[in-house]
Amino acid sequence: MSKKPWDKGIVKVMFSEEEIAVRVKELGEEITRDFKDVEEDIVVVCLLKGSVIFMSDLCRTIKLPLVMDFMTISSYGNEFVSTKEVQIKKDLDESIMGKHVIVVEDIVDSGNTLKTVLKMLGNRGPKTVSLCTLLNKPSRREVEVEVQYVGFEIPDEFVLGYGLDYMQEYRNIPYVGVMGDLSKLED
Ligand code: IMP
Ligand code: MG
Repeated sequence: MSKKPWDKGIVKVMFSEEEIAVRVKELGEEITRDFKDVEEDIVVVCLLKGSVIFMSDLCRTIKLPLVMDFMTISSYGNEFVSTKEVQIKKDLDESIMGKHVIVVEDIVDSGNTLKTVLKMLGNRGPKTVSLCTLLNKPSRREVEVEVQYVGFEIPDEFVLGYGLDYMQEYRNIPYVGVMGDLSKLED
């Protein structure tokens, strides 16, 4: 891994740490209100790796008993473009049968990944499946995906930080920033 400044290549802050924290808390409160009366178990599913930071913050703002589970999906695109081929690399540890599933995603872009994941999970007999994404890029949508909880709608810009990566780096940047000219990322 290169030893460049941790935020080299980020040209603009789109959402600061403080703005994200406020919005995450609002989402947690909304989810708490929506699920406070359910009797069945609640499972929050983190789609690794992009959602790990958002999911861990979000879960601490949901004031209900819940379990966390993790899933890794691989899609055979490049860093910028996902493809329609989606495979499970690491599956959930527990059954979701009869439970309320809240899938947490970093960003919904074309929608291809989520459409497939939601279909796979829906086939396992959950009571409900809902989707919570930090970011939504509606202008890039190729397939329709119903998103119940959206942190922020964003324009068609490639963003990094707060879990989102470029070639696996930048996930630990605490804000969401816009990536600049790629050639400037090289040393
Ligand atoms: P989709 O299947 O096109 O909706 O792809 C969603 C996945 O693409 C996300 O989970 C991200 O890993 C990746 N992705 C899409 N847009 C961005 C971006 O702006 N920055 C970083 N990753 C992105
Ligand atoms: Mg990614």
